[in-house]
Amino acid sequence: MNVVVIVTGGAGFIGSNFIFHMLASHEDYRIVCLDKLTYAGNLSTLKSVMDRPNFRFVRLDICDRCGVERLFEEEKPDIVVNFAAESHVDRSIENPSVFLQTNIVGAGVLMDACRKYGVRRFHQVSTDEVYGDLPLNRPDLFFTEDTPIHASSPYSSSKAGADLLAMAYYRTYGLPVTISRCSNNYGPYHFPEKLIPLMIVNCLYDRPLPVYGEGINVRDWLYVEDHCKAIDLVIHRGRVGEVYNIGGHNEMRNIDIVKLICRELGKPESLITYVTDRKGHDLRYAIDPAKILRELGWLPETRFEDGIRKTIRWYLEHRDWWEEIISGEYQTYYERMYANR
Ligand code: NAD
Ligand code: TYD
Repeated sequence: MNVVVIVTGGAGFIGSNFIFHMLASHEDYRIVCLDKLTYAGNLSTLKSVMDRPNFRFVRLDICDRCGVERLFEEEKPDIVVNFAAESHVDRSIENPSVFLQTNIVGAGVLMDACRKYGVRRFHQVSTDEVYGDLPLNRPDLFFTEDTPIHASSPYSSSKAGADLLAMAYYRTYGLPVTISRCSNNYGPYHFPEKLIPLMIVNCLYDRPLPVYGEGINVRDWLYVEDHCKAIDLVIHRGRVGEVYNIGGHNEMRNIDIVKLICRELGKPESLITYVTDRKGHDLRYAIDPAKILRELGWLPETRFEDGIRKTIRWYLEHRDWWEEIISGEYQTYYERMYANR
């Protein structure tokens, strides 16, 4: 094994897809997944790789300094990729404190361990949401890496906090850091509290489809595998101390996504229910990915029409995965969030 990669948050949506990608494309790497298994982490997601000799799963909180240092001591990682985070904007509006703890303090603990053990690269998986939002009537504007940080939600501000900390560790201690800021992902293993899987699951049960406000907010959607390939490039060829935006110029209004899902599943649009808008709801996200194309040659490979069909098919074929999730704590969450909204 020549390269050891610690992937935090690898039992979640993007982290698990990244682990599958890394095991498939770097067969000589050792991949160690560190995950606390919060409500969003699922060990069943990793069952296909659990027995691989070059894969290890460790249940651990990134805020647990002693546990993290022990793991670094044991594994001597070359690269650390930090996906671990509280990731849902609506939950951050309800209860910000765990977002500050995991997304900022936890990221700091990881960076301290990287310094102590001389890790070659710490990669912070960030989000385009740190830039705040763009107006709906200015389709000519995009987020570049130089767009000022202007986060709107407790979630995005906690992610921005980690980004600032990472840049400070680069400048102050020379920690070899890279940051990527990606647009909204979709694909297999996406937790059903998020827009696309929530609408697929509700459609399959003929339940109301709760669209916030008028459904005109715009998100820039990227198939998760394309995000994973971009991170792979950044950790190997990205320049330290640099930020890379990741996105595929695929902007869509929420309402159009929901209608598309109805069409694909043969469900009536009468299921759509307009509900009270999210507080501070960002209007539009749109990434300018010119830098990662220019420097690393990255381009998205999956067109939205193909990716969304693949995703819907995946949810149809993996009912056991999401039915187990929505039978637990999710029901209380759903009730709290959507009843009488
Ligand atoms: P997710 O919520 O599906 O998964 C998060 C994972 O982190 C879970 O497995 C959870 O158990 C784990 N985790 C949470 N707190 C932890 C802690 N304290 N210690 C260890 N593990 C912990 O999230 P996701 O959608 O896969 O997002 C992964 C990363 O990518 C996040 O950092 C997020 O900010 C970023 N991101 C997400 C998107 C998106 O569209 N989903 C877009 C851009 C960036
Ligand atoms: P989400 O998947 O939570 O991602 P983010 O807020 O990080 O972009 O939401 C995507 C968009 O869909 C966002 O504009 C909020 C909207 N939305 C709904 O209209 N209804 C829902 O039930 C959810 C979860 C989201």
